[in-house]
This record gives sequence, structure tokens and C-alpha cells, in this order.
Amino acid sequence: MAFWASVLIVLVTTVLVVLYRLGALRQRRVNEPPLDKGLIPWLGHAMDFCKDASSFLKRMQERHGDIFTVQMAGRYITFVTDPFSFDAILKESRSRLDSSNLISGLVFKVFEFQGQECHGNIMHNSTPKYLMGTGLVGLTQAMMDNLQILMLEPDAGRRSGPQEWKQKGLFQYCCNTVFRAGYLALFGHLPTNGKADHAQDLLQSQKVFEEFRNLDTLFPQAFYSVLLPKEKEEMRRLRHFFWDILSPQHILERDDVSAWIRSAQEQQVEEGVSEKAQSQFNLLMLWVSQGSTGIVSFWALLFLLKNPEALKAVREEAEGVLRKMGQEMRPGEAPISVEYSMLQQTPVLDSVMEETLRLVTTPFLTRTVKEDLILKMDGGKEYALRQGDEVSIFPYLFLHRNPEIYPDPTAFKYDRFLNPDGSRKVVFYKQGRKLKPHMLPWGAGITICPGRFFALNEMKMFVFLMVTQYDIELVDQDVKIPSIDLKRFGIGATQPIQDVQFRYRIRF
Ligand code: HEM
Repeated sequence: MAFWASVLIVLVTTVLVVLYRLGALRQRRVNEPPLDKGLIPWLGHAMDFCKDASSFLKRMQERHGDIFTVQMAGRYITFVTDPFSFDAILKESRSRLDSSNLISGLVFKVFEFQGQECHGNIMHNSTPKYLMGTGLVGLTQAMMDNLQILMLEPDAGRRSGPQEWKQKGLFQYCCNTVFRAGYLALFGHLPTNGKADHAQDLLQSQKVFEEFRNLDTLFPQAFYSVLLPKEKEEMRRLRHFFWDILSPQHILERDDVSAWIRSAQEQQVEEGVSEKAQSQFNLLMLWVSQGSTGIVSFWALLFLLKNPEALKAVREEAEGVLRKMGQEMRPGEAPISVEYSMLQQTPVLDSVMEETLRLVTTPFLTRTVKEDLILKMDGGKEYALRQGDEVSIFPYLFLHRNPEIYPDPTAFKYDRFLNPDGSRKVVFYKQGRKLKPHMLPWGAGITICPGRFFALNEMKMFVFLMVTQYDIELVDQDVKIPSIDLKRFGIGATQPIQDVQFRYRIRF
């Protein structure tokens, strides 16, 4: 009898421990946000979230209101949906709400990169210097030089002859061109021993682009740890391909490597970081810098092509800037060069880019709760957050697409970010109260994207060249704007589920 009692006690204890570990015993405590664990222990709402995070969070908001905690694959994440309460999270000290653990966890999973102390320093101290300060002008020029090589030089010989239309997938074209120009601007050129020969660069950057797209296709599965065995093998091959071409040795052999990448390499060598870890870091930098710019450029051009009035306004503005800078476009003349200062004179294009970013960027701004704390919402209500949980903001749904802030929020309005006098509009309201911030495409706080100014310059330059140098049109003007891939929320910019065919031909 005593034996069976012991067995029963062991069994009950084991079941309780397992249930506890699976989170099934967690109950909402006094002052905590509403808790929604979902029906499946431990997994909770993970499947719904991975399928379509935006619709899932909308349902949760309708059910629970401005703040709620959901269980997902063993994690408890509190979502705050009231834009006026975002500041309380974004301005909280790192010792209480920290994002670094999450980033390194994600990064290790996908890129097998374990960041060291010096990588934090590189990111937060030296990176901004090269991507924002004086370094930005040189980097922007390097981007222009590479766009010339990829876009304008191949057509240069044909300028005086008959102008031919070329047809391509717009997504493929934008991603290819912007990726390769950005890659060459940041990671430099293959050595040519003094000759002005771009053939090898064109070939190699094409290969790098194709492999990057392969990596990008597998990214969501790697992100959610659901790679099939064959996909795991492919991911391994891709990682090795990039670790090889981005190895410190290969970077040293290249010409015109950006000061950003060069200085990061020098600092890692000083700190004794292994060559493998340096290659892994370079792959991460390639990913963060090149993962979204081509995609956002695609959406910007597609929105312009679907809105002839907007395309006309952007083209007229760009032509005006060219005239002002003495760069008249005439048949047979040298291709134009878009300089840094020209990109500061384009409020209409700025508005188009901001409207595009509003519609297509979907970051989650997530922090780990380092110690039990009280979160004070804008309305004054206070909620207790538990140490070890996470707290997250999803600006795409709760800010960028909020109809009280942006009327008709799913529509592309090219002049939404322009004041009636044509200057840049930076003040937006919700229920009569000014919002700060009114947009969060680049994240916020210490981890805010340090490449945001360069990214904007890259994309603006590309659109500028496309509208001034080419006639562009959709093959089918009535084609519908493609739906987005719902599995990619939180992973860079949203991608279309299919491409859209367009035509372009050199104008002069
Ligand atoms: C459309 C293009 C881009 C978008 C939408 C974008 C957006 C973002 C976002 C949302 C983050 C995370 C911020 C956070 O966690 O709070 C980030 C991080 C980062 N981005 Fe960008 N980015 C873009 C282009 C670039 C470019 C071109 C570069 C570099 C040349 C760059 C460099 C970085 C770096 C280094 C980080 C990590 C910062 C850290 O962890 O401290 N990004 N970006």
C-alpha cells in the first residue's frame, strides 16, 4: 500500500512539474494584464501568430483591449497597443527592459553567430559614425557609382540608337539592382589591378544576390525553427557560402571596402575575435543592410506606377532638382549623377518613401523584462510585468495602420507626409493629441536602425534614377497590388506573394 502511495505521489509531482514547465499552471496575478494562454499547453498561440501575426494581434486587441499577455512556445509576451503608451516602454532603462538578449538569440539561431562584448561596442559606438555622420556622404556617393555601373552603363552604348523596351518582374529587378549596388558600396569591389573593368563584379554580385534570395526564402522557417532536414542542409550550405565570400581574408583583398566594414574588422582583430566569428558578423551585417532596401524600393515604385499623378509629381520634382544642379538630360549626354545634396531637396519623394515605409515595414519592438516592474499606461492605469516575460510593440498595426491617425490607412497617398505649402509634414494627431513618434519603421531606443539615413538615400537614389532616366510602365496597368506574404511579419519589410511585370526604356 505504502509502495503504491509513493508511486502516486511521484506521478502527481511529475505531472505537476511538467504542467508547470509547460506554463499550464500560470495564473493571472492581481494588476497583471489580461492573460491568454491559448488552448495548447506551452505552444499557446504560436501557430496562429506564425500564420498571420497581424490578424492574430488584431483579434487579441478586440478581445482584451490596450494591453494583454499571450503565451507562445513557452514565452509570455505582453503586447501594448495604445500608441500613447509606447513611450513608457521605449524610454525605459535597459536595466529594466532590454532587447539585446532577444537579438542575440534570434541571430544565433539563424546565423549561428554568438556576439561578444566588442560587437555591442561596434554596433552602438562606431557604426553610427560611419553610417550617419560624415561617412554618410561618401557612402551615398559609392552607392551612386555602383547604381551607375548596374543601371546606366549597360545602356550607355545604346543611347543614340532606337530606344527599346525591356520587360522584367518589378520585384526581381528592384531587389537585384538595389542589393547589388548596396553590397558593392559596403563590401567593396573585386581587385582589377587598376583597370576600369566591372565584368567580374557584375558576375560575382549576381551570384551573391541569387544566394541571398535563397537564404531569404528560408529565413522565416529558420526564424521559427521549423526547417525540414533538406532545408537545414541548404541553410548550412548558404551560411558557408557567405562565410567564405565575407571572410576577413576575402574582404582584405577587395578594393573600396566601406569604412564601416573595414573599421569593424579592425576592431575585431584588435579584440582577438576569431576569423570565423568575423565572417559570421559580416553575414549578419549583409543581412541587416541588404534585407529590406530592395523590397521597400519595389513597393515605392509599384505604388508610383499605380498612381500616375504621384509618378508625375516625383518626376517633375526630380527633373527640377537636376535642372537646378545644371544636369540637363539630353540625348547622347553622359548619364546623370545624383549627389547627396540633391537628395535633401525632394520633399515629394520623401513623402512617397515615408508613406511606403508606413505601409510595408513590420518590425516588432520587443524587450525582455529584467526585473518585476510596474508599467504605467498613458491613461494612468498601472500593470505589473513579470521578470523573464517580454513586452512588445507592433507599430505596423497599432500605429502605421491606425485609422484615427492615418485616415483610409491601407491606401497609398503620396502626399500624406506633405504640408499644404509643400514642406515635410512631421506632426500627426490621434483624437486631437499630438503623437510622438508618429512612425516607427526603424525601431527605437538604443537599437534603432543606425543605417536608416543611408537606407533612405539608397532607395531615394534608385527611385530618382528610375523616374528620370527611364520611361516606366506596368505591362498591365489594371494589375492588382499583390497580397503580402503573411508569414513574414517582423522579418524586414513585407514581401509580395507574386511579382508584377513592368517595362522600362531609357529616355534619352
Ligand atoms: C529599408 C531598409 C531598412 C529598414 C526598414 C531597417 C530597419 C531596422 C530595424 C527595425 C532594426 C531593429 C531596431 C530595433 O530592434 O529597435 C534595424 C537594425 C539595424 N539596422 Fe536597419 N533597416 C534598414 C536598412 C539598414 C541599412 C541599409 C543598414 C546598414 C547599412 C542597417 C543597419 C542596421 C544595423 C547595424 C542594425 C542593428 C542595430 C542594433 O542591434 O543595435 N539597416 N534596422
